[in-house]
Amino acid sequence: MFDRYTYQGTLAAADFVHWRIEDIIGGNKRLDFSKPFMPESLARVTTLSFLNGDEKRVLNQIRGHAYLSIFGLVEEFILPFVIDHARPQLAGDDYRARALLQFAGEEAKHIQLFKRFKAEFEDGFGVSCKVIGPPDAIAKAILAHDPLGVAITTLHIEWMVQEHYIGSVKDNQALDGQFRSLLKHHWIEEVQHAKLDTLMVQSLSKDRSEAEILKAVEEYIEIGGFIDGGLKQQVEFDLESFETATGRSLTDEEKTEFRTVQLQANRWTYLGSGMTHPRVLETLGDLTPKARERVESIAGDFC
Ligand SMILES: [Fe+2]
Ligand SMILES: [Fe+2]
Repeated sequence: MFDRYTYQGTLAAADFVHWRIEDIIGGNKRLDFSKPFMPESLARVTTLSFLNGDEKRVLNQIRGHAYLSIFGLVEEFILPFVIDHARPQLAGDDYRARALLQFAGEEAKHIQLFKRFKAEFEDGFGVSCKVIGPPDAIAKAILAHDPLGVAITTLHIEWMVQEHYIGSVKDNQALDGQFRSLLKHHWIEEVQHAKLDTLMVQSLSKDRSEAEILKAVEEYIEIGGFIDGGLKQQVEFDLESFETATGRSLTDEEKTEFRTVQLQANRWTYLGSGMTHPRVLETLGDLTPKARERVESIAGDFC
């Protein structure tokens, strides 16, 4: 059931695609603020009929800033989680130890990359955009859950990145080239993480009863609820950033439409696209068909 990925295979792929931060950001590799950063399938700004073209681009860029910032944020819980998972099993399988440490090292690099991006964004955009946090408090709240629930959350996040890049960014020539490059380089390493997450879920579930597995799935759903609360706050921050950046005050009616459309856009971006990912559902179904059915029963609310 879980034999589709190996530590040796993911390690070989990770060595092959490895990149350095200085190769992809800085120097003449700059963001072009005349272009959108995010694909419309995630940003959902065009349906906001009360915005003109420039305003839609500004909101799209605010969403792009939040996207990379939120990834930086969630990776701050993934990093200690992977290290804690690797620590007791450093002996016995050299490929496993190296693959998991490589995974952790890449997440540390991604966190640093997203901080570099954030600094450059603020420089060029001219307005400081708030993002939910602080990262250590969010990491603490998530890591307080059952490790299998956290592993399923991580699995969800890494496959979600695959869906976003392949489905909406890879062939999208309208987007800024530098932002696409950041997403591409992130994706190319996350491919291995998604496979390692599958192996982590396997390892953490192997001695559990169905009832214990379903309890961990409930904890995954609880973490999703916690993230959803953060997304509601993020929409408020994005609204505030939008008004500051454009100098426009939205009417109460416009604000209501903004909140409705953008909350659902955020839900799809960070929750629905992971909960409905075929590989996430496949792994849940491998644990027990009831785990898959449970997640499928609520996923529609986040699409
Ligand atoms: Fe990452
Ligand atoms: Fe990752």
